[in-house]
Order: sequence, then structure tokens, then C-alpha cells
Amino acid sequence: MAMRNVSLVSERLSLDPPCADDVAAIASACQDPEIPRWTGQVPTPYDEDDALEYIEGLVAPGWARGDCLSWAVHLKEDGVRPNDGSLMEVPKEAAEQTPGHENLGLFTGIVSLSLCGSGGASIGFWTARAARGLGVTREACELVLDFAFRPSTDASDHQPPGLGLHRVEWRAMVGNVASAGLARRMGFSYEGLLRRALRAVDGRILDVWIAGLLVEDSREMKGWPDHVFDAVG
Ligand SMILES: CC(C)(COP(=O)(O)OP(=O)(O)OC[C@H]1O[C@@H](n2cnc3c(N)ncnc32)[C@H](O)[C@@H]1OP(=O)(O)O)[C@@H](O)C(=O)NCCC(=O)NCCS
Repeated sequence: MAMRNVSLVSERLSLDPPCADDVAAIASACQDPEIPRWTGQVPTPYDEDDALEYIEGLVAPGWARGDCLSWAVHLKEDGVRPNDGSLMEVPKEAAEQTPGHENLGLFTGIVSLSLCGSGGASIGFWTARAARGLGVTREACELVLDFAFRPSTDASDHQPPGLGLHRVEWRAMVGNVASAGLARRMGFSYEGLLRRALRAVDGRILDVWIAGLLVEDSREMKGWPDHVFDAVG
């Protein structure tokens, strides 16, 4: 089902469908080898043409079809914005010209939701190195989870109607302890290991961990097996 673009906001973040304004920042962040390594979806080498192709070939059609919803995470201009110099500003001029983008500041990463057609979806995310460890990814993912689970009949002045999903799942390559720590922190329950379930763009075929969060689940941290966090990343 086609969807109009939806932005999600918190006090310090604005999540907006990635657009041409984000190209330079996406390309810059993806120079960090951890992003291609752990997502399996980002090619190496990676430049601004790749970022534009991602936006035109995946993001825009995903929103148009309504089955793959992606957001660029932005630290608001007037919010607290830690920066060691390697996070990129969304170009001021571009931000001012794009309705709804006037308040954009630093680009920190991407969160996406792939809908599977049975009331469920899979969440994916990556964050620029300089923005990690600040709770930004968790806050962004929680905005997306709230949107995913909120009933479609439920809108307010501040929040768009939700997707009314009953399940969101998380998958990560075995060994991605940072991603597993984040999923556990958000209340996902570990569900197991899927053998050779992911083909990366570089040809690797990999085992993945899977975890799930249901609409009725608490967001409290659940017990996960020790072997996940003993895995060498
Ligand atoms: C995984 C990734 C998105 C985490 O982003 P982040 O911004 O550092 O995460 P946050 O700061 O929001 O952390 C939130 C929680 O995640 C957990 N976490 C984050 N990094 C962790 C790590 N290295 N080990 C264990 N837990 C970790 C913590 O519980 C943390 O909460 P706390 O600070 O209250 O303890 C980031 O490391 C990344 O982009 N990695 C490369 C790409 C990638 O792996 N994407 C996921 C593919 S499945």
C-alpha cells in the first residue's frame, strides 16, 4: 500500500525520509568499514553516487510502495549536538528550501523498517561512528517502534497515525554484539540463530541472530543467552 512520507520527532531528533540533502553525509559515514561489514548491504568502495542510487533506487520506491520505510536520523539544530567534527551538517540552504526540513542539523544515521505483509516488519539501522554510544540510535529506533506499533486509527497533534503492526523483528550477523546489545536494551527477546540466512552484497553468506518484539511486550530488557555476548565481533 502506497504511503505518504512520515517524519518522526523527539525533543532532540528528527527522523525524515532520506533525500538528496543527506547524500554527502551518508557517503561520508559509510567510509567507516564497520557499516558495510555489519549491514552486509553497503558496497565498498562507496561514494556519493552510491548514496544517491540508494535514495533513488531503494528509499523512494520503498516509501512509494509502502513496504520499506527508511529514515535519516538528524540531531535537531536547536538540540544538544555533540560533534567531534566528523558528523556532517545537512546543508543549510537545502534544509531551508525543503518544507519540514528547516530545523535539520547533523545527520547521524539510518533506521529502516521492512514490512513483511503479515502485520510484521524487520528493523535495520546504522549510525555514523562519531554519533555512537550517545543513545541516539536507541532513541531513533524507539520512535520507529512506537510508530510501528501505534494503531493506524491513533493520531495526535504530535504523532502521525501508526502502522498497527503486531511484531517487529531484528536480525544481525552473528558476532554483531553492539547491535545485539541495542536490541536487548530495547526489549527484544532473543529467538535463535538462522543458519546461512543472509547474503551480503560482497557475496558472503552468513548466519544471523534473530530477536522479536511484540506489540504487547514490555520494553524492559529481557534475558539473552550468554553466548551472544561472548561472540567475537
Ligand atoms: C549497532 C550500532 C547501531 C549501535 O549504535 P549506538 O549509537 O552506539 O547505540 P546507542 O548509543 O543508542 O546504544 C543503546 C544501547 O545499545 C547497547 N550497546 C551499544 N553498543 C554496544 C556494544 N558495543 N556492546 C553491547 N551493547 C551495546 C547498550 O545497551 C546501549 O545502551 P546503554 O548505553 O544504556 O547501555 C552501531 O554500533 C553501528 O552503527 N554499528 C555498525 C553498523 C551495524 O552494526 N548496524 C546494525 C546491523 S544489524
